[in-house]
Amino acid sequence: MVLIDGKKISAEVKQELAEKVLKIKENGGKVPHLVAVLVGNDPASETYVAAKVKACNEIGFKSTEMRYSADMTENELLEVVKSLNEDDDVDGYIVQLPLPKHISDEKILMAIDPDKDVDGFHPCNLGKMVVGMPTYLPATPAGIVELLKRYKIETKGKHCVVIGRSNIVGTPMSILMSRKSEYADCTVTLCHSRTKNIKDFTLQADILVVALGVPHFLTADMVKDDVVVVDVGIHRIASDKTKSGFRLIGDVDFESVAPKCSYITPVPGGVGPMTIVSLLQNTLLASERK
Ligand code: GUN
Repeated sequence: MVLIDGKKISAEVKQELAEKVLKIKENGGKVPHLVAVLVGNDPASETYVAAKVKACNEIGFKSTEMRYSADMTENELLEVVKSLNEDDDVDGYIVQLPLPKHISDEKILMAIDPDKDVDGFHPCNLGKMVVGMPTYLPATPAGIVELLKRYKIETKGKHCVVIGRSNIVGTPMSILMSRKSEYADCTVTLCHSRTKNIKDFTLQADILVVALGVPHFLTADMVKDDVVVVDVGIHRIASDKTKSGFRLIGDVDFESVAPKCSYITPVPGGVGPMTIVSLLQNTLLASERK
């Protein structure tokens, strides 16, 4: 069993990006600039945004965090989006989700200039992905493909089972894995909360991407020998064994599943660090396109 080290691979990609930034600087170019908009103070969102800003600083990107209180109105946020669309200094930006309930995610995401949508969430960018045109790929699926690629995991003709159909992970992942390309070309099954007898599908999987948001959902009896397991879940559970009083677990029951796998991603340190790297890659792409 090989443990897929997302921390190591993300450090490698960040190093490559840092070298590209150095070259841009040497040539007198403009360094890529990412803006992260955070509304309210959801603790998980605060952690994610802080990690994104830190990663930008590490590789020499310019980054700006824009924070607003949870009671800002939808129109006020739309004004922020409009000003970011018009600001030539900003190459790409993200509006961290979830937004407060009184603000429509859809309305805000639709207002983002697709050329600056480095999350790849705008329907224009998702549509380009579906037809195989160059675009910003959603960060988590793109990060997973990068891991498969760097570990040289065979995907052609394999059966990839994706569990979860969210707009930001499961659905785009299923599309990416079915594309005709070197690190895809799979037969894909998309399972979700309404799938009956899900074990019938997971037992057929050569590659399993688990992104349904249920702690320890996938157990050893649900997988065949030598499966590749990618765990997208991340859950905080209480623990008296750590200083912080909690530990992170995924959607996969790692202890029982890992011994059956050819490759598996751990939580933490698997998919998570790759998500940020994809965002940085998209931001570089945004600045190069300009
Ligand atoms: N919330 C959870 N993941 C993400 C992400 O990748 N981008 C944004 N904007 N919000 C998120």
